[in-house]
Amino acid sequence: MKVTRELISAEKIQDKIQELADLINKDYQNDEVIILGILKGSFITLSDLAKNLKVDVTFEFMSISSYEGSESTGQVKIEKDLDIDITGKNILVVEDIFDTGLTLSSLLEVLKSRNPKSVEILCTFIKEDKQQIPIDIKYKGFTIGPEFVVGYGLDYNGKYRELPYLGVLS
Ligand code: IMP
Ligand code: MG
Repeated sequence: MKVTRELISAEKIQDKIQELADLINKDYQNDEVIILGILKGSFITLSDLAKNLKVDVTFEFMSISSYEGSESTGQVKIEKDLDIDITGKNILVVEDIFDTGLTLSSLLEVLKSRNPKSVEILCTFIKEDKQQIPIDIKYKGFTIGPEFVVGYGLDYNGKYRELPYLGVLS
């Protein structure tokens, strides 16, 4: 498999991340927020976002998996859990891509059972027209088609995460 087509340029992605950071800066200007990065796919979004944040923020990570190759297994597994207590805290989950919604809906259930003050979601890419569990995503990056995409943190069997743009494999 090769990356054959650039879907969203590095420049467009940078502009969007800046826009999202501006919104976050406004929304959390009077409050602390824990940014919860979902590994591994969110690491590039997180890094670009972090450099544009001007709020009282800390960073935590969880690792969750549901995919093998380009197919969802339908099972979500927590590979690495939080090591802090989130009771009474504002949580902003940062996820690379919203596909079926399975990952985020399971994650939200887990997080809400731990009594945070608030939980919001940022998704860099959102696939439309797929069978999805409806979830309210407050900070949306790009809406894309149903194809399998790589780059900007997203992988195919661990590869292509480093690409600064979003591409399509074929
Ligand atoms: P969902 O649980 O079906 O919403 O899938 C979300 C997870 O699946 C993401 O965190 C990604 O790891 C992975 N995923 C979904 N679609 C793609 C894709 O097009 N490229 C790479 N990974 C994807
Ligand atoms: Mg993932």
